[in-house]
Amino acid sequence: TPFRAVVLTLFPEMFPGPLGHSLAGKAQADGLWSLETVDIRAFARDKHRTVDDTPFGGGAGMVMRPDVVDAAIAGSYPGEGPIVYLTPRGRVLDQPLVKDLAREPAVTVLCGRYEGVDQRVLEARGVLEISIGDFVLSGGEAAAIVLLDAVVRMLPGVVGKTESLEHESFETGLLEHPLYTRPQEWNGIPVPEVLMSGHHARIDAWRRDQAEDITRQRRPDLWSRYVAAQKQEQEGRS
Ligand code: ADE
Repeated sequence: TPFRAVVLTLFPEMFPGPLGHSLAGKAQADGLWSLETVDIRAFARDKHRTVDDTPFGGGAGMVMRPDVVDAAIAGSYPGEGPIVYLTPRGRVLDQPLVKDLAREPAVTVLCGRYEGVDQRVLEARGVLEISIGDFVLSGGEAAAIVLLDAVVRMLPGVVGKTESLEHESFETGLLEHPLYTRPQEWNGIPVPEVLMSGHHARIDAWRRDQAEDITRQRRPDLWSRYVAAQKQEQEGRS
């Protein structure tokens, strides 16, 4: 049974966007997942189709009304899976969370515009707040596309066995090693000799060294965790 993504947004025309192309688009055409876009404005009750209002207590911008957002959820929730609200205040997305979401039968994604959504509807609906990183977007739509792209490629059957997910960044706890292809010499720069050797054990060892070096240099946070995990493994073996 295919994975269902339901996106609630004031800008339904932004979807499917990139999710209609490449890997995610192919997977949708193959029936591995479906995307339903719901226009929040269709759930506004007044003749001006109002979805937002000024914040109580003052302050800049506009806040999405809880009654309208609640009606949009009531009218489109698929009956299973988490309701995710994309906000820089949320838990920061990482690959373990992506994998958890990919194990769900469905994910309902609420995209905010303006300054945000009234807190009461988030609590009443038990919404899971997720951020895609420590920066601020003008709305949740781009974040929803990022989140769903990451989730869809983890669904069973989406990425073929040959592309195998197991060596990629974050799976091993390291950033991935650098990649090279033809031509063998470009701009006077040769491909590293070892990759031309056909010696698979040496190639694997070289790639692991490269991955470790780049992770140590760029991501001391990942490196510390990796070193700790290696140490745990060492202890487990002895
Ligand atoms: N909306 C605005 N900024 C965001 C972010 N960093 N993550 C998720 N949703 C957002």
